[in-house]
Amino acid sequence: MTPLRVLAVASEFYPIIKTGGLADVAGALPIALRADGIETRTLVPGYPDVIKALPTAEVLLDWPDFHGGPVRLLGGSHRSLDLLVLDAPHLFARPGNPYLAPDGKDWPDNGVRFAALSRMAADIGQGAIPSFLPDIVHAHDWQAGLAPAYLHYANGPRPGTVMTVHNMAYQGRFPHDMLDAFGLPPESFTMHGVEYYGTISFLKAGLQFADRITTVSPTYAVEIQSDEAGMGLGGLLRERSQVLSGILNGIDTSVWNPEADPYIAARFGANELDSRAANRAALQRQLGLDPSPNALLLGVISRLTWQKGLDLLLDTIATIVGEGMQLALLGTGDRDIEHRYQAAANANQGRIAVVIGYDEALAHLIQAGADALVVPSRFEPCGLTQLCALRYGAVPIVSGVGGLADTVNDVDEADIADGAATGFLFSLGTDEALAAALCRANKSFQDKPGWRQLQLNGMSTDVSWRDRASRYAVLYREVVAARRNDMH
Ligand code: ADP
Ligand code: GLC
Repeated sequence: MTPLRVLAVASEFYPIIKTGGLADVAGALPIALRADGIETRTLVPGYPDVIKALPTAEVLLDWPDFHGGPVRLLGGSHRSLDLLVLDAPHLFARPGNPYLAPDGKDWPDNGVRFAALSRMAADIGQGAIPSFLPDIVHAHDWQAGLAPAYLHYANGPRPGTVMTVHNMAYQGRFPHDMLDAFGLPPESFTMHGVEYYGTISFLKAGLQFADRITTVSPTYAVEIQSDEAGMGLGGLLRERSQVLSGILNGIDTSVWNPEADPYIAARFGANELDSRAANRAALQRQLGLDPSPNALLLGVISRLTWQKGLDLLLDTIATIVGEGMQLALLGTGDRDIEHRYQAAANANQGRIAVVIGYDEALAHLIQAGADALVVPSRFEPCGLTQLCALRYGAVPIVSGVGGLADTVNDVDEADIADGAATGFLFSLGTDEALAAALCRANKSFQDKPGWRQLQLNGMSTDVSWRDRASRYAVLYREVVAARRNDMH
């Protein structure tokens, strides 16, 4: 196995800076890839928390003027992740959310910020740091999308490029007149370049120019070739379907390990499933839910956005309460959805508990204590919370889309006894379908041995990165081999 060098480019990474699953992937995939002989360094923006986490970083390069200010490239590591940090105070020395200003709106210079990140990736790809010349530049999401474009238009040899889409809903579109500020040549502004209906689209640029495109589940890879789920880029993805594939995400099974989880009340494994009851009781106590042992306790951990379909779950509150179930929801996002959940909690004390905010510890306790985890997404590229739920014995109740459909097997389609069934799926569309799935789960919950088997089936499902990382390794090697053939 020849070792291969990969420069991953991501705008967030666990555990330093995270708004969603992209950070989890960026933080875990490089480590899993080592077993396949892949050496990864991850280029990230120098947000204040990143700089703080790397006090002994080495200065690898510095420029007096890079996209409007002085920058340095730092090299260091955090835990076992090898990082390259774009220390650009004029772009990234801003605390808080990596994309949003304190007023909740996108930073007005987001285009330049992430063009600079992508440009640095391309420069490293072309040898800016002689000690690390990558075979592959792997761009994650729109923030890294210009990297394959810069490499396409650059002179001289370039590494292979892979573009991974974690979410088609975020495309990074900016006005045409920024072309020069982004350092893109005039000829790039065409339908077969970075142009998207008169604007510059970072995601489109990546999809257009990368050697290979991946997304985070096989079903989403098919869905995004449609006009609707492709969100305007379905045509391009249909054209490039030969180089598009879906590779499921895994989870970091050292962070999400019920046998050694520091955040939960009682640790447990498949052989000590009874210990889960202590987590369930702790969750009910902490959130002010009635201490009833027989109510199906539903959990939710989510961004509260249209994508996640949690407005549909609000419409089932009467069913949840009427059928004697409980709900523990942790989330943050749209103000309107937050307010509606708070109102539902106030009206149903002891039955519905809502925590608005981001809380890592509570997320772990919900996975360990809830009987079931609900993910009613309208679309879901992969989804990680249902994977954690499987590992923690919280039975997933999910809509049958994207990665949810690929990772949960419905009890009516698969057998519980032979280990295949792991949860409940429902067809998207109406809140009635979701309510029906909740009622099906509630009925199954009354059959204690059957429910226990369902939990054990989930807990024995492989949700780790092991095999999934190997698929990226194979893909990288294919790209390198294909480029070598092209050159001969
Ligand atoms: P997305 O990336 O679309 O938000 P994923 O399911 O892929 O969805 O990843 C979400 C990640 O963020 C998971 O690790 C989940 O546990 C975490 N998460 C989401 N909301 C919260 C919250 N309010 N508090 C703590 N963790 C959260
Ligand atoms: C995105 C998607 C989510 C996926 C995550 C990591 O945020 O919404 O489904 O799991 O990226 O790939």
